[in-house]
Amino acid sequence: NQSAQRYQNIRVETRERVGLITLDRPKALNALNAQTMRETVAAVQAFDADRGIGTILLTGSERAFAAGADIKEMASQDYADVYLADWFADWDGFTRVRKPIVAAVSGYALGGGCELAMMCDVLIAADTAQFGQPEIDLGVLPGMGGSQRLTRAVGKAKAMDMILTGRRMDAAEAERSGLVSRVVPADELLDRALEVAATISTRSLPAALAAKEAVNAAFETTLAQGVLFERRAFHAAFATEDQKEGMAAFAQKRQAEFKHR
Ligand code: CAA
Repeated sequence: NQSAQRYQNIRVETRERVGLITLDRPKALNALNAQTMRETVAAVQAFDADRGIGTILLTGSERAFAAGADIKEMASQDYADVYLADWFADWDGFTRVRKPIVAAVSGYALGGGCELAMMCDVLIAADTAQFGQPEIDLGVLPGMGGSQRLTRAVGKAKAMDMILTGRRMDAAEAERSGLVSRVVPADELLDRALEVAATISTRSLPAALAAKEAVNAAFETTLAQGVLFERRAFHAAFATEDQKEGMAAFAQKRQAEFKHR
């Protein structure tokens, strides 16, 4: 039970079948120090294991989704420190979450903040959102997957431009480039993102998990392998009662009541 847990740098609540996680470290614009990383990964994993939850929604504050990894915490580390502790490897636990994760991004999503948003499945941006990988200005490079996920999201031209110059992308450019799926007015961000998350959470959970798995397979496999993976997952969906219910509801012109949610 998450409500019983004590988190310092995040807030966790549930809205029906949506598990809402809010990054809450305002004094550092939600910079992702080790503690915030541990808490965020623990919170998504707890929601992933919670049968009452269908979708996870991750957000920050109006001013910042997250302004990056914590520069003050990193500054004094040397190579052996970061290598032996395998800095940022814990985020792999976030990417192993099977339930869909919606990111609602307002304000700064820089460095690790941009990279965390890109680990989510559906990205919704406020019109105030700014995305960037400014690590080059700090004498380093992205370290939480930015060089890989940004390149896959927006292509080599824009990824190289952003990662080598450190320039930011506004919400309109992010949508145009395929980094985010929707841009909404800042004051509607949470409501609109909650609607999306709630919609997903009413669907058949096995179907949603398999769909996420199939889309993610597109980044790891050849086209033929990916298409085969999808087809087998599609076949498997016919073993669920939800397939029977979903298709019967269509024929009867009514709303489906999925059992496995
Ligand atoms: N780490 C630690 N502290 C940070 C931070 C970060 N990434 N970003 C902001 N803060 C802190 C500031 O130090 C400041 O704290 P103090 O009041 O104690 O000085 C507080 O948050 C507010 O920030 P600013 O006063 O700088 O606010 P601003 O409105 O003037 O500027 C900003 C906002 C442009 C986002 C600016 O804070 C900034 O450039 N932040 C750093 C962005 C960055 O370089 N991110 C990449 C980090 S490296 C990384 O993420 C590696 C990786 O790939 C995983």
